[in-house]
Amino acid sequence: MDFEGKVALITGGGSEKGIGRATALKLSERGATVILADVNGEGAKKVAEGIKKDGGNAIGITIDVTDYKQVNETVKQLKDEHGKIDILVNNAGISRPTRVLDITEDEWDLVFDINMKGLFFVTQAVLKSMKEEKYGRVINLSSVSGKRGGGIFGGSHYSAAKAGVTGFTKAIAREMAEFNITCNTVAPGLVGGTNITGGLLTEEAEKEIIKSIPLKRVGSVDDIAYSIAFLASEEAGYITGEELDINGGSHID
Ligand SMILES: NC(=O)c1ccc[n+]([C@@H]2O[C@H](COP(=O)([O-])OP(=O)(O)OC[C@H]3O[C@@H](n4cnc5c(N)ncnc54)[C@H](O)[C@@H]3O)[C@@H](O)[C@H]2O)c1
Repeated sequence: MDFEGKVALITGGGSEKGIGRATALKLSERGATVILADVNGEGAKKVAEGIKKDGGNAIGITIDVTDYKQVNETVKQLKDEHGKIDILVNNAGISRPTRVLDITEDEWDLVFDINMKGLFFVTQAVLKSMKEEKYGRVINLSSVSGKRGGGIFGGSHYSAAKAGVTGFTKAIAREMAEFNITCNTVAPGLVGGTNITGGLLTEEAEKEIIKSIPLKRVGSVDDIAYSIAFLASEEAGYITGEELDINGGSHID
């Protein structure tokens, strides 16, 4: 896989231990310029600095994916500065373990706004640019929770939002194919060590989950990043509207 000359925008890339950073490393090691965009702008800048120290080309910026105006202005600015955006990884996301009877309207909206509406905002803004360039790779982060109805960490709002991501991605894959733009999702199972559980997943609960995974371990951020990099590559150009399960066999359908 060679990403020389490619420009990649990765949302939620400001998390030191997250899937976004791991993906940025895989792409930048192979020549891409990576733009890490996160509501935690300081985190994004720090991750970018680390990549630059290792010889990569990286920029960290602040973005709140739920802010329509900010998203559109930022994407326009990136397009002006870099000429194009070849790869979009919609990775920003949050989860909450709340059971259905306890979910408030505010929490439902928060989970949907970031995981689904924000993903739509960024995708729409970037697709306008990709359509002009007649080239694009969009990779959206779904989750095994969206396929099997939770049971890992997130509640029903998270499952619903991630299932929404998959449906949305399949639909835009059809619409955008004529412009040489592919759109796919990856659906990770539990990935160890990231910040998404906010420390709320106990060691005991994790051990129980591992018992139910045929490969007997949680996923690593690299497990997910390699698959994203593949779907972002030239080589994956005939794959679109696909959802790639990365869960150690915990959900086989
Ligand atoms: N970790 C897992 O087990 C797992 C499993 C399946 C899917 N996923 C998905 O993978 C993606 C990355 O998760 P992670 O585990 O690396 O989590 P993480 O918490 O380490 O990273 C998520 C990043 O998203 C950012 N973010 C949150 N709200 C934002 C907003 N409004 N605008 C911009 N950025 C925002 C956060 O600041 C954070 O840096 C998420 O979409 C998540 O749902 C994770």
